[in-house]
Amino acid sequence: MKILVTGGCGFIGSHTIVDLLENGFEVVNIDNNVRSNAGALEGIEAITGVKVPHYQTDLCDLAATRKVFAEHPDIEGIVHFAAYKAVGESVEKPVLYYQNNLNSLANVLTCVEEFGVKHFIFSSSCSVYGNADELPVTEATPMKEAESPYAHTKQIGEGMIQHFAKVHPETSFVALRYFNPAGAHPSALIGEASFDKPTNLVPVITDTASGVREKMVVFGTDYNTRDGSCIRDYIYIMDLANAHTKSIQYLQSGKNKANYEVFNVGIGEGVTVLEAIRAFEKVTGISLNYELVDRRPGDVEAIYSNYKYAAEALNWTPKGSIEDIMQTAWQWQQKRPEWSFRSSAG
Ligand code: WQD
Repeated sequence: MKILVTGGCGFIGSHTIVDLLENGFEVVNIDNNVRSNAGALEGIEAITGVKVPHYQTDLCDLAATRKVFAEHPDIEGIVHFAAYKAVGESVEKPVLYYQNNLNSLANVLTCVEEFGVKHFIFSSSCSVYGNADELPVTEATPMKEAESPYAHTKQIGEGMIQHFAKVHPETSFVALRYFNPAGAHPSALIGEASFDKPTNLVPVITDTASGVREKMVVFGTDYNTRDGSCIRDYIYIMDLANAHTKSIQYLQSGKNKANYEVFNVGIGEGVTVLEAIRAFEKVTGISLNYELVDRRPGDVEAIYSNYKYAAEALNWTPKGSIEDIMQTAWQWQQKRPEWSFRSSAG
């Protein structure tokens, strides 16, 4: 079965392509490489032996997007990652986020309709819950106001798909609400190669440990949590990748209860920032230079998932621990290939 991955040169996209290939799927990739690196495909080929056909196409260009579908009329499924995802930037440049993230989705849905694609997996985010009142969040937890335009584009994206699904019973959809993806493929041939200076916790930790950064900060230790620092649900990237493969297989099997379903993809364990730092130090033997500072605006105090619904429905079992995340993230930091430092299509 041929799957089109959009944004397959990105962190989650590249790891998902590996998992899809290892589960017997054929993959075609679209990525405009504006914020990702085509070199990721070299890593995928080194791991799987497969040279994935790649189209450096902007999904906001409908004519160009249609051409890819026309060249591959046997595309039966789509995993749609392509989007901008920097929360802070989205606050500064909201129109850029609405234009890019929603136009691209609308164009892909247009092609789903015109080319009769059967299955569609949407990359959503736990940030659709906002500052949830109840923890752990379940799929039934009501969405509160989005904390950022980025999160808002994910809420709107889910809504676009829900309404599209209502008038396209012949196509089935799954939206996966990610918690905090982290770590790297055990080979260290692919990993998180962020387009600019990383702001997410795990790459900041490994940059600090390797000396790329002189020190790091912990944003806030006065939260109402067991050690005062924020709680998040860190999910090992290969577990997250497999959730996409399992979602395609779930839709292929016809076991889906409706043609639009949502799943939380986390591991249901809350880890504080200070606990994450200690896990890194324990696994690597490196002591980190960090300073305790004020809260970061926009951070929620705690969020972690109840992922049982996904585990049962998708027959999906996350295996990676916070230690596995830190171990593989550190290996990646030390061995990452040359291409991963180039910040463009190069
Ligand atoms: C985690 C915790 C920080 C950096 C975001 C998006 C989410 C998803 C993942 C796209 C927080 C603390 C961080 C640092 C710190 N992105 N921290 N010092 O904000 O939970 O989630 O990335 O899908 O949608 O919202 O991730 O890694 O930035 O922060 O103390 O130098 O680590 O305050 O508590 P976040 P994060």
